[in-house]
Amino acid sequence: MAHVCSWRFVRTFDNFFRPWFHNPEKLFGAYVKSGMTVLDIGCGAGFASIGLAKLVGDRGTVVSADLQPEMLEIVKKRAEKQGVADFTIS
Ligand SMILES: C[S@@+](CC[C@H](N)C(=O)[O-])C[C@H]1O[C@@H](n2cnc3c(N)ncnc32)[C@H](O)[C@@H]1O
Repeated sequence: MAHVCSWRFVRTFDNFFRPWFHNPEKLFGAYVKSGMTVLDIGCGAGFASIGLAKLVGDRGTVVSADLQPEMLEIVKKRAEKQGVADFTIS
């Protein structure tokens, strides 16, 4: 995994400031609707996955896939904290 962005540096691009520039609900809202199943490949720490989970709602599913299991652990914790763990699967 020499060429992947290590989970150790995830906070350099997925941090407090990111929502100022990226809003997943705005970016994907026109395409992703309640009840859909969405695949987030290379989800990293799940910035997009969490927003997508809010869009698909409790009738939908987000499948968050990443090469690094450490990233998926972060996604799980984040999803629990945001109350969307029931419809985010890693
Ligand atoms: C730059 S990060 C971006 C993470 C996330 N999409 C975001 O916008 O915050 C790229 C992620 O893709 C993952 N990745 C790279 N190649 C992959 C592959 N072939 N399959 C699954 N995940 C991959 C890395 O482990 C890393 O977490």
